[in-house]
Amino acid sequence: MAAAVPLLCALLLAAAAALENGVARTPPMGWLHWERFLCGTDCTAQPRRCVSEQLFTEMADVMAAEGWREAGYQYLCIDDCWAAPTRDERGRLRADPRRFPGGIRRLADYVHARGLKLGIYSDVGNKTCAGFPGSYGHYELDAQTFASWGVDLLKFDGCNSGSLELLAEGYRRMSLALNKTGRPIVYSCEWPFYLRPMQQPNYTEIKQYCNHWRNFFDVYDSWNSIKSILEWTALHQDSLVKIAGPGGWNDPDMLVIGNFGLSWDQAVTQMAMWAIMAAPLFMSNDLRRISPEAKWLLQNKEVIAINQDPLGRQGYRITKDKNFELWERPLSGRAYAVAVLYQQEIGGPQNFSFSLAFLGNGLACNPACSVRQILPSSRDWGVHNWVSSLSVEVNPTGTVLLRVAAL
Ligand code: GLA
Repeated sequence: MAAAVPLLCALLLAAAAALENGVARTPPMGWLHWERFLCGTDCTAQPRRCVSEQLFTEMADVMAAEGWREAGYQYLCIDDCWAAPTRDERGRLRADPRRFPGGIRRLADYVHARGLKLGIYSDVGNKTCAGFPGSYGHYELDAQTFASWGVDLLKFDGCNSGSLELLAEGYRRMSLALNKTGRPIVYSCEWPFYLRPMQQPNYTEIKQYCNHWRNFFDVYDSWNSIKSILEWTALHQDSLVKIAGPGGWNDPDMLVIGNFGLSWDQAVTQMAMWAIMAAPLFMSNDLRRISPEAKWLLQNKEVIAINQDPLGRQGYRITKDKNFELWERPLSGRAYAVAVLYQQEIGGPQNFSFSLAFLGNGLACNPACSVRQILPSSRDWGVHNWVSSLSVEVNPTGTVLLRVAAL
């Protein structure tokens, strides 16, 4: 036991340092290939859709040319299926040579030259979820390899890890290995998601090692998926909300806006609610072909400002009243983001009235406040006082997002 104490101290110090890796002070923003492009490896049949150097260079060009970078979307991230099926003769991971002819180093240079950062993917077990080589037994080497390529973010999946002990140990060891490289690398984990079916995650510990972490199932391009993520988050908000903050965030998974499955109102809901939840904003869509409406929503400065608020507090559901949900998120400068979500999937728009005294434990509008609507369209609601109530009209499965600032 006595011998274990210095070791424990060293581990704790290292863990604290991992948290203070200087990155993700606000939720990271970028693009991640998975939801839209999955594991496309046949570049002969599908040259523009396969997971390849071309996909990422084209996406980097668009991100730099069409306002995405300026809006804050900085990390261009590779998900699963980038690697060759085997390691090289020195045991290092390598990109599939046919699909990434210049390797990851050249791609990183290309991405950096456009003012963006590059993310990559690996897995704590001996295989990734899609069956490519995992990092088990190679944590130090893989961290060094990623750093030597100029990688800025690692998404570390939790498939095929063998046991809960190996899962936790692997997530810790990769965090320390990344730290040791000296390169600031955002560390994106799925540790609590893989742990939860068997064990209640220890979020205090997870935050010491990870910059953000997935808690729940993969997002799909559907309203059902968005709805279930929101409901799950609200049901677990007592343990999730308090842990989020600069350097460590709950990750409800990618934005699927601009794809096929969400109506306009549902896309508004995803954008508004991901801002309320202080979620990392990783779009998974085809930026080369995206509607002007989806682009307007994803680049909306006021919603992004809420998501990126420097106070870094995650929002929560205040009430669920029949089919209406009222959420709020405390912001810097005595302000609150407020969302009214209408869950009914039949009929038309409905009004929801609520007293401003409900917000911020009575403080948001005390003695008065200004109210601004941000989504679905911007609108000034003027000055209100503590006893005022507000009535907003919300479309089925839509959300009205407001910014309420105390005066
Ligand atoms: C898991 C993750 C997804 C994605 C796939 C890739 O399902 O949760 O986000 O990375 O693996 O195989």
